[in-house]
Amino acid sequence: EWTMDAFIDQAVAAIRQQVGDKKVLCALSGGVDSSVVAALVHRAIGDQLTCMFVDHGLLRKGEADSVMQTFADKFQMNVVKVDARERFLQKLKGVSDPEQKRKIIGNEFIYVFEEEASKLEEMDFLAQGTLYTDIIESGTETAQTIKSHHNVGGLPEEMKMDLIEPLNTLFKDEVRKLGEELGLPPEIVWRQPFPGPGLAIRVLGEVTEEKLEIVRESDYILREEIKKAGLERDIWQYFTTLPNIRSVGVMGDARTYDYTVGIRAVTSVDGMTADWARIPYDVLERISNRICNEVPGVNRVVYDITSKPPATIEWE
Ligand code: XMP
Repeated sequence: EWTMDAFIDQAVAAIRQQVGDKKVLCALSGGVDSSVVAALVHRAIGDQLTCMFVDHGLLRKGEADSVMQTFADKFQMNVVKVDARERFLQKLKGVSDPEQKRKIIGNEFIYVFEEEASKLEEMDFLAQGTLYTDIIESGTETAQTIKSHHNVGGLPEEMKMDLIEPLNTLFKDEVRKLGEELGLPPEIVWRQPFPGPGLAIRVLGEVTEEKLEIVRESDYILREEIKKAGLERDIWQYFTTLPNIRSVGVMGDARTYDYTVGIRAVTSVDGMTADWARIPYDVLERISNRICNEVPGVNRVVYDITSKPPATIEWE
């Protein structure tokens, strides 16, 4: 009989056997898969594991801190945090095409990772959170690329390290169970999908720190209100976007000319198709009021009522 405990025992033994007294590197993104693989490998080999967390400045509010709290403080893992925020912003300067933005971020991530890894002592293995479904999907590559996906799973082929992929027989729901079993906090285990290029593809057009801040803050308010309303598990994915629009509004007696924030919330099974979530009007009202009141530079909030297809979930 297959149980999670038996899986952990077996995986731990296999990792120990494979690694011996050598060193393992793992790219931590804060996402479910890389978090679970880090926790599992750490359970097996402790300090022989080093995690690298690249903060590209495109994460949601509070996420970088939460990654460090969980892995460096609570689990006491070796975590190297790389502050690459300025570097990514510089690379994205003046770039407004969505595909170009995605490519720049994906490439820059690999450069930063390689550069920082070369400063560490020699690492023999690279641990990756490849799932069973990742293997299947890459075997049946669809003919047309809608968006070039970037995620931390597909790291540098040029790096001469052997791969450790202990999740490659598991499905997503099993990975979540495993994460819970290993003591990871619910906000990591139940984290909604988040694109590798992060908030950069939710700021439409050119990315600036000012615009990122608007998305970060409005997204945080949205998440708080969805949580308060008890809708977290009903909505598959929810976030705010910053379309490149400013419009006229009024504040007190004065005219404003500020940004519009878009709310995107969908129900879905696998992200391949999606329907817009029917968030109750009173919840939407609170979200809209708070965003206009609390986020400087915003005077209008709109709700995206498009399913996928014809739209995609993300706006870029
Ligand atoms: P779209 O926008 O194509 O998104 O309907 C489908 C799902 O994929 C997520 N997404 C990504 N995930 N790297 C990822 O790991 C990416 O580059 C990426 N782009 C989109 C998106 O958030 C949604 O859940």
